[in-house]
Amino acid sequence: MAEVSLLIHDLEAAVSPKGSGALRGRDLGELEIHTSASIAISGDRITSVGHPAEVLRELPPGADYETLDGRGRVALPGLVDCHTHAAFLGSRAAEFELRSRGASYEELHASGGGILSTVSATRSGSEDELKSAVVRHLGWMLEHGTTTAEVKSGYGLDRATELKSLRAIREAAEDHPVDAYATFLGAHTVPPEFSVAAEYVEFVVQEVLPEAARHARAADVFLERGSFEVPEARRCLEACASYGLALRLHADQFSERGALPLAIELGARSVDHLENTGEEGARLLARSDVAAVLLPACGLFLDLPLPPARLLVEEGAIVALATDFNPGSSFCESLPLVMNLACTRLKLSPAEALSACTANAAHVLGLNDVGRLAPGYRADVLVLDAPDWRYLAYHLGGDRFAVRIKSGRMLS
Ligand code: NIG
Ligand code: FE
Repeated sequence: MAEVSLLIHDLEAAVSPKGSGALRGRDLGELEIHTSASIAISGDRITSVGHPAEVLRELPPGADYETLDGRGRVALPGLVDCHTHAAFLGSRAAEFELRSRGASYEELHASGGGILSTVSATRSGSEDELKSAVVRHLGWMLEHGTTTAEVKSGYGLDRATELKSLRAIREAAEDHPVDAYATFLGAHTVPPEFSVAAEYVEFVVQEVLPEAARHARAADVFLERGSFEVPEARRCLEACASYGLALRLHADQFSERGALPLAIELGARSVDHLENTGEEGARLLARSDVAAVLLPACGLFLDLPLPPARLLVEEGAIVALATDFNPGSSFCESLPLVMNLACTRLKLSPAEALSACTANAAHVLGLNDVGRLAPGYRADVLVLDAPDWRYLAYHLGGDRFAVRIKSGRMLS
C-alpha cells in the first residue's frame, strides 16, 4: 500500500455521495454515510475511508504519518463550485442600492449599467490586478469550503480583455490552493462597440475564440433578451465545440426562449439558472444528459421565481448547484449558504444539496476525481466542527470548519 501521509481519525461520520460519475434523479440523495470513521490519505489522494479499526489495520506497521483528531467532527468532500464569474474588477454596490429602491436588474442592463459597468472596470485594470482579484475571490470561496471552482471570463468582451481574463484565471489558480478551471464567456453580452449581436458573435468566433480556446475547458453563452438569441448562441457554441470546448448555457434566467432545446441538440454539458423554465422544459431536460445547474443565491439576490428543482429531480435530471458568484446578480461565494437555500426554498433534501455541489458539480466540470470521499479521489476534505454533517446546510451562514484539506494538505 502507498505511504500514508495523513490520518483523520475517529470521526463521528464521513459522508460522501454514492457511486461514481453523475447522479441522476433521486440518486442525488443517496449518500454513503460511514458512522464512526477514519480517512487515510497518501500525498494528494484518499487511500481508504471506513471504520477506524479497519483503516488502522490497513496501515503499514511503523508508518510515519500526521494524525488529525476527528472526535466530535464530521468529514465531507471539498465543495465544487461549477458556476462563478470571479474574474472581475470594480464594484456594483451603487447598483445594489438602486435595486433596493426598485430599479430592476434588466432595466439597469438595458441602460448600459449592469454587466457593462463591470466590463469597463475590468478593461481598465491590469492583468496583475485582475489576477489578484481572482486570488482574493478564490480565498473567499475556500473559507466556505470550496476546493474546486469554475471561473468564467465575460467581463472583457474585447480580444485583449477576454484573453487577459483567461490568463489571470490560470495564473491565479497556479498561486492558490483552490483548483480553478476557466470557461470562455466571450458571448456574455453585446459590448458598446457593436450594435448588432450577430456581428459581435462573428467577431468573437473569428478573432477571440482561436486563442481563447487554448486557455479554457468550456464555453458559455448568455441566451437572454438584451444579450443573445438562439441563432447567435448556436453559432457561437458550435464554433466553440469545434475547438473541443465543453458547452454551457445561461438559460431561462428571465425568459424562456429556446435555450433548452438548443443545449440538448448540441449535447451541452449544462444549462444554468432555469428560474423561468416551465414544466415542459423541465421534463425535456430530465430526459437528456444535459445537467441542470441551479443558482438559488442569484434567485434570492434578484428576487427571481424558483426553478423547478423538485420536478427536475423527480423526473430524473442531473441536478447541480452553484453560487453564480459575480458582482451584479449574486455577490455570494458561499456554497453552504446555497445548500441552505436549496433546502429551504427549492425543497431539496440536505443529502441532495450536498451531492449537487460535490459529485454532480464535478461532473459539470468534467472532473472524475473530486466530489467524493472514496479511495483514489483527490484528498479534498472538509472537517466540520459539528456533530452532524447536515449542519453544513442547516447552520445558516455558520459553516464552521475545524480543518480544510486540499490535495492532502491541511490548510487550517
Ligand atoms: O449569471 N446573467 C448573466 N450573467 C451573470 C450576471 C453577471 C452580472 O450581472 O455581472 C449571471 O447572473
Ligand atoms: Fe452566471
